[in-house]
Amino acid sequence: MATETTLTRPHIIELPKIPDQRGNLSFFQNDSPIPFTMERVYWIYDVPGGEQRGGHAYRTLQEFVVALSGSFEVLLSDGREEQRFLLNRSYYGLYIPPLYWRQMENFSTNSLALIVADKAFDEGDYVREFSRFQQLRDAR
Ligand code: TYD
Repeated sequence: MATETTLTRPHIIELPKIPDQRGNLSFFQNDSPIPFTMERVYWIYDVPGGEQRGGHAYRTLQEFVVALSGSFEVLLSDGREEQRFLLNRSYYGLYIPPLYWRQMENFSTNSLALIVADKAFDEGDYVREFSRFQQLRDAR
């Protein structure tokens, strides 16, 4: 298995925060501080209590996930170990490299998940069977 550098592991990225009495402002842009060029943005909202999203991996897609409002948890697996990240602030987010199994859960009421990705939507990039995901992991 290839050794992963810090950059290729999932990690929290802190975003600039411009404090202002009129309300705070945060932002990100291509390649800074997120480590890729954005191609697509989508968001998940109106999640009923107790529901989960995700339950798959991507072969090549990189993503960055921010809780713009409310909170939720992202559970990541590299096929061996699981890591759980709580996202509950709009000034940091989670970088997810390719080939991580992900589940999003424990969405608070009115939470809003913003996800930016480095590629256009492609169902062919999804790995929706955990056993297949493990095969791809083992082959790395
Ligand atoms: P999916 O990625 O499975 O959702 P989750 O956030 O739970 O992982 O996507 C759900 C459906 O939406 C699926 O039919 C594919 C479609 N979809 C698009 O058409 N475009 C997109 O950019 C995304 C993310 C999903």
